[in-house]
Amino acid sequence: MSKKRIAILGAGPSGLAQLRAFEAARLAGVKDLPEIVCYEKQNAIGGMWNYNWRTGLDRNGEPVHGSMYRYLWSNGPKECLEFADYSFDEHFGEAIPSYPPREVLKDYIMGRIDKQDIQKYIRFECPVRWVSFDDETQKFTVTVMNHKTNEQEVEEFDYVVVATGHFSTPNMPYFEGLESFPGRVLHAHDFRDALEFKNKDILLIGSSYSAEDIGTQCYKYGTKSVTISYRTQALGYEWPDGITEAPLVTHFEGDVAHFTDGTTQRFDAIIMCTGYLFHFPFLPDDLRLQTHNCLYPANLYKGIYWQPNPKLIYLGMQDQYFTFNMFDAQAWHARDVIMGDIKLPDLQTRESDEKEWLATYDKCSTVGDSIDFQAAYIRDLTNDTDYPEFAVEKQGDILKQWQVDKLENIMTFREKAYRSTLTGTLAPELPEPWLDVLDDSLEHFLNMALVQSKQSKKQPQ
Ligand SMILES: Cc1cc2nc3c(=O)[nH]c(=O)nc-3n(C[C@H](O)[C@H](O)[C@H](O)COP(=O)(O)OP(=O)(O)OC[C@H]3O[C@@H](n4cnc5c(N)ncnc54)[C@H](O)[C@@H]3O)c2cc1C
Ligand SMILES: NC(=O)c1ccc[n+]([C@@H]2O[C@H](COP(=O)([O-])OP(=O)(O)OC[C@H]3O[C@@H](n4cnc5c(N)ncnc54)[C@H](OP(=O)(O)O)[C@@H]3O)[C@@H](O)[C@H]2O)c1
Repeated sequence: MSKKRIAILGAGPSGLAQLRAFEAARLAGVKDLPEIVCYEKQNAIGGMWNYNWRTGLDRNGEPVHGSMYRYLWSNGPKECLEFADYSFDEHFGEAIPSYPPREVLKDYIMGRIDKQDIQKYIRFECPVRWVSFDDETQKFTVTVMNHKTNEQEVEEFDYVVVATGHFSTPNMPYFEGLESFPGRVLHAHDFRDALEFKNKDILLIGSSYSAEDIGTQCYKYGTKSVTISYRTQALGYEWPDGITEAPLVTHFEGDVAHFTDGTTQRFDAIIMCTGYLFHFPFLPDDLRLQTHNCLYPANLYKGIYWQPNPKLIYLGMQDQYFTFNMFDAQAWHARDVIMGDIKLPDLQTRESDEKEWLATYDKCSTVGDSIDFQAAYIRDLTNDTDYPEFAVEKQGDILKQWQVDKLENIMTFREKAYRSTLTGTLAPELPEPWLDVLDDSLEHFLNMALVQSKQSKKQPQ
């Protein structure tokens, strides 16, 4: 019998988790692993963490995937995203603070990957153009554009794993008068450098993570004023002077925004922090997940298997309290299903399982409920596989404390320190106020962490 063939679409943290899951099986002595091809649109691994200075189109004319910006720091404690098979201690050799900047987290993600070995699976600069499924042969046909050879490639697979992310295609609403606004109007996806807005009055529309993070970051790098306009609910933090919240914009007249409470204000620039669209232009209707940013997208069994055809697997499509460890939990499960070690039940059973999860999700009314829900979801996945234990519920408690810390002070929560549930190591506190650390390079951050760690070792216990 010929080997099973698997296509992994995307080499971000989710796609890499899938590759790692198979690698773990190989290291454990499992023979007869499937043949894997991973198609990646960019010219490197890391997905969103592969910082891109470009906006708009990449050098091949493809939409730029990256939405990350220059001075981005993790917005959640690293103790809640730690790979269960590769701790921060193992990677850095020293304890580091709980909220690392982007470059530091990327270094950690990359550390788990054997970069030489992985190259053999990945075809870079190969955006997937189309995927179809043949009921008769029970195979997928995947068409990609190989920009390196300038030729289209078509291959057949038994399974397709969609790991293309969902924070890349901007949801860009229209407000009357925008076409006459004289300053920059951009989406968070295209935001790169806070210094562009130094001494400017900026309006952020939207009231979730992008708004709070871009707002606080612009404040940190010298923006004159930040106004955050909310549609449903204000973020409600105690903001420093220079950051305020306003209800939704109704329209613009020149550079003046009008809000629903009748107030008006002049702005130099507008950043839409209005979230992202799930966008799979390479999938036909009968295979395409249609959802919004939520913790349990409908039509997926176990949050990963496409109900009508579970040979199509989606990774990382949830909104994310947990990230890298959740992608691992999903990837290990998918691996075992593909290998035949876990048998999926029939459609009816799969659908009633999904219904139960959706009903539980419906009952979540607080952030705490949502965190517990995602922890229970991950536990459900890891119960079935040999993914190493990682006390996901305890990590959920850390995430709840994170919420408290943010409410206490949104400008200083990144100075808090947590204990790893894997190694028991307590992170050192950030040695300087987050607002004062303008150099967020890997080198500077690790130097700071090292000095802090040496000092705390000198202190009597
Ligand atoms: C601004 C921002 C900040 C974030 N900060 C954090 C944080 O601090 N901590 C955290 O844990 N998470 C954070 N996240 C969440 C982040 O999305 C996840 O950490 C993680 O990157 C998701 O991994 P993924 O592999 O599912 O998707 P992605 O990282 O988006 O990777 C998807 C990959 O698929 C490729 N791809 C897309 N389309 C195609 C195609 N047609 N063909 C081939 N390849 C394709 C892309 O090039 C990319 O490499 C942040 C997200 C954003 C947008
Ligand atoms: N430093 C970091 O680590 C960092 C920084 C930024 C983002 N992120 C990550 O990026 C992901 C995406 O976050 P996000 O904030 O971009 O998206 P999001 O969480 O999906 O939130 C979208 C926001 O846009 C608002 N919105 C949507 N359409 C609107 C409209 N027409 N008018 C006004 N408001 C509208 C929504 O308001 P309603 O509530 O009314 O729907 C919501 O507040 C998250 O996982 C987050 O963790 C991380």
